[in-house]
Amino acid sequence: MTDILRRGRLGATDDEVDGFLSSFGSDRRIFGADIDVGRAHVVTLAECGIVSEDDARAILGALDEVEEGGFDALDGTHEDVHPAIEAEVVERVGEDTGGRLHTARSRNDEVATCIRIALRDELLGGMRDVLALRSALVDRAEETDDYLVSGYTHLQRAQPTTIGHHLLSYDAALERDFGRLADAYGRVNESPLGSAAFAGTSFGIDRERTAELLGFDRPTRNSMDGVASRGFAVESVSSALNASVTLSRLCEDLVLWSSHEFGIVEFDDAYASTSSIMPQKKNPDTAELARGKTATVHGALTATVTNLKGLPSAYNRDLQEATGRIWEAFDAARSSCRVLAGVIDTAGFDRGSARATVEDGFVGATELADALVRETGIAFRTAHHVVASVAEQTDKPTADDVRDVFREVTGDALELDDERLENALEPRGCVESHDSYGAPGDEGLLDEARDALEADMDTLNSLEEDLELSEEMLNEAVEEIR
Ligand code: ARG
Repeated sequence: MTDILRRGRLGATDDEVDGFLSSFGSDRRIFGADIDVGRAHVVTLAECGIVSEDDARAILGALDEVEEGGFDALDGTHEDVHPAIEAEVVERVGEDTGGRLHTARSRNDEVATCIRIALRDELLGGMRDVLALRSALVDRAEETDDYLVSGYTHLQRAQPTTIGHHLLSYDAALERDFGRLADAYGRVNESPLGSAAFAGTSFGIDRERTAELLGFDRPTRNSMDGVASRGFAVESVSSALNASVTLSRLCEDLVLWSSHEFGIVEFDDAYASTSSIMPQKKNPDTAELARGKTATVHGALTATVTNLKGLPSAYNRDLQEATGRIWEAFDAARSSCRVLAGVIDTAGFDRGSARATVEDGFVGATELADALVRETGIAFRTAHHVVASVAEQTDKPTADDVRDVFREVTGDALELDDERLENALEPRGCVESHDSYGAPGDEGLLDEARDALEADMDTLNSLEEDLELSEEMLNEAVEEIR
């Protein structure tokens, strides 16, 4: 096959240098995007009278065949996917026709456009993955709404809550992670196509038209910025990292809860592994790997930012190295999210073991202090002092223990009937009375989570519908020329 880029003076003759220059391996991710970019570009060239309808028709036919043949049918000795596709087109329809595909474009705007298209799909897919995990969390939260469990700060038993409330805390964090992906999507979805090398072109192209045919909201405003900027990648990978950090915290809670010491959760067999030497073991490997993959996403963000820092304008080949990091980040974050949705869906939560964490450790201490303030009018600091003295003596106090200490510390008898006192000491009453907005006793929490989930589902569906409409528009424009 004719090497359309290397026919001239330049071109590596050494295999190692060839491989070093090539982005072919990671270009698999943008193969489909590049075909569509070619279609939208050539349709617009014909509409603008820059190539003839006959040439455009022939090129479009060749692009269909190249698409059908798939990425693996391309000649991988090309520097990247763009000349590989162009060479296939030229091979099929001859250079006098196929050689017109690259009129008024450069690989610089071409690749930036392809990355944005492929990244758009990753963002939408990532949003879908986040929604699936949130949906699993909300379902399981409804089921475990009344499973008492201790919450921890500093990994010390702190106050009682419910497993449901704990699971919903992750749904709330993931709602923001979804929002960050959606925000990034808005800035990714601008079309650099037509920026050419960086200075645009003297051909009378229509950048609005290619943008609309490819489902972009608008063309990027400045042609140099269009090819030089990868801020959209930093933002997207950073959003993926934020979500990964949320996932890694969930993983850590699951790993702890699955230990013999807690025994609060049991992973379904499909999501656990055993030991090659210790036959009794059931290890939470899926959660550990998802926790570990957060490092991959973090590494990808660091690599991307480091790659971009201080680059001169406009295009530099360094940028090629950043592209693969985007896919690594999304592969790691999205697979973790999907696997964790399965973990949550199938996990067994043990009501008894969860309850055991609130039986001792005096997790009702804060509520007891609050009750003393409310019922006797003493200052919170005094109540804190009373309850701290109780805690020094026992981690499972009775009403009488509290009365004795109250008299010792304040010199007064405690004016609080047994029922109220016991209610404050009892974890269930304690959780139910914590009904401030967002707290475990707030009965509206589940409904709010479901409403937010539905709203985000609508957002995602409408973004996907917009893309489907633009796909139809591109098909129609192609048909028009055929
Ligand atoms: N493979 C290149 C990349 O990923 C495509 C653009 C090449 N442009 C150039 N002027 N060499 O960035």
